[in-house]
Amino acid sequence: MVATGQDGAARGVRAGRGRTQARRDRRGRERKIGGFGVGLRKERHAVEDAPAYPVGLRLKGRRVVVIGGGQVAQRRLPALLTAGADIVLVAPEATASVEAMADAGELRWERRAYREGDLEGAWYALVATKDSAANAAASAEAEARRVWCVRSDDAGAATAWTPATGRTDGVTVAVLTGRDPRRSAAVRDAVVEGLRDGSLVAPRHRARTAGVALVGGGPGDPDLITVRGRRLLAEADVVIADRLGPRDLLDELPPHVEVIDAAKIPYGRAMAQEAINAALIEHARAGKAVVRLKGGDPFVFGRGMEEAEALAAAGVAVTVVPGISSSISVPGAAGIPVTHRGVAHEFTVVSGHVAPDDARSLVDWPALARLRGTLVLLMAVERIGAIAGTLIAGGRPACTPVAVVQEGTTAAQRRVDATLATVAEAVATEGVRPPAVIVIGDVVNVGPAAAASARG
Ligand SMILES: C[S@@+](CC[C@H](N)C(=O)[O-])C[C@H]1O[C@@H](n2cnc3c(N)ncnc32)[C@H](O)[C@@H]1O
Repeated sequence: MVATGQDGAARGVRAGRGRTQARRDRRGRERKIGGFGVGLRKERHAVEDAPAYPVGLRLKGRRVVVIGGGQVAQRRLPALLTAGADIVLVAPEATASVEAMADAGELRWERRAYREGDLEGAWYALVATKDSAANAAASAEAEARRVWCVRSDDAGAATAWTPATGRTDGVTVAVLTGRDPRRSAAVRDAVVEGLRDGSLVAPRHRARTAGVALVGGGPGDPDLITVRGRRLLAEADVVIADRLGPRDLLDELPPHVEVIDAAKIPYGRAMAQEAINAALIEHARAGKAVVRLKGGDPFVFGRGMEEAEALAAAGVAVTVVPGISSSISVPGAAGIPVTHRGVAHEFTVVSGHVAPDDARSLVDWPALARLRGTLVLLMAVERIGAIAGTLIAGGRPACTPVAVVQEGTTAAQRRVDATLATVAEAVATEGVRPPAVIVIGDVVNVGPAAAASARG
């Protein structure tokens, strides 16, 4: 917990004169002023000026009363639910999200205004209605019942303040800055972000993620890896990385991290996978934190499960971190939605790594040709002529729009538009090279990017 606040200056003065003396002076002043009937107000100021005492409430199974079902409740309820609180909401109406929580049985909702006695049995209260008289009454009841109470309309009258909180990897960061919630949020964001991306180094002293983390790195843009993936990368001793994915992140790793380029592992294509598995096992058994960084999602044409199986067979623990697959994100980055209302109600992701007439193909191309939804082809640049011909022969109109997106989400991204009839020639003429995602279907012509592409 980080706590800073406007009390700092006052504290400094007191420290200079001696805390005990300062406290005595203050008490004397308060008593004197109290004799003239303004003691209550003065005392409240003294309470406000004191720093809040930070504490973590363990609310699991304990009654928490929330009064008011508006935006404040909507923002605070998820954390209370995560804490396992037994929540009673008292409000004549609520936002749609709050209502959904009640409908889902996550909290009990009394559809009425606050009334005296609502805080009976509560451990903690959040008072946040638009009616300041009701807020004052509820907070007075809380005070009388010794229930810690947060009040949205008057922080000075509240007995508790909600810090700006963030959570990452088992760490809760809570920041209080007295009267500057934006600064609290900024400090919280800086700490959480730093812990997540590893720029704030706070090594764990208990368990690190053991074994191998199979991390989906997303399509290439380093910002498109998940928060969890990024954190595991920051903690790794060894990273075995694919050719595709967020290669820029490897540059950011500290010098002691061993980076192994999976694309350069020797042997033929089939043997390479065994060599990768062997390297993963060897480093994990040596007690290293190993990240297997893969492009997109590990389980979308990524051989992720083969690696997970090999590790499991070797008794090595595996953590799988999903990633953003190029099959959706690359079209999206080029302005193509894989589904669109009234245009496509399905999308099918297909590997084009073997041609339709190849005996090893597991794809039912005639069935795909009969679909009217979106087809997304990966690893298909070299075989697009054969694939397009098979789809047309199977009934897909030759004029079906096609977009080829090369190196999506990177600085080198480019998009080539064509039709099923012309795509093979366009790929050859434009010199399109892998990696590319090929999108087939009417969604290609949807949106502003399509209009710009048509204008040339
Ligand atoms: C072996 S597959 C791996 C797919 C990956 N697991 C995923 O979920 O995105 C490799 C293919 O993904 C596609 N791909 C991956 N990243 C891409 C990118 N940034 N731009 C275009 N295509 C990409 C290409 O079709 C490439 O040949």
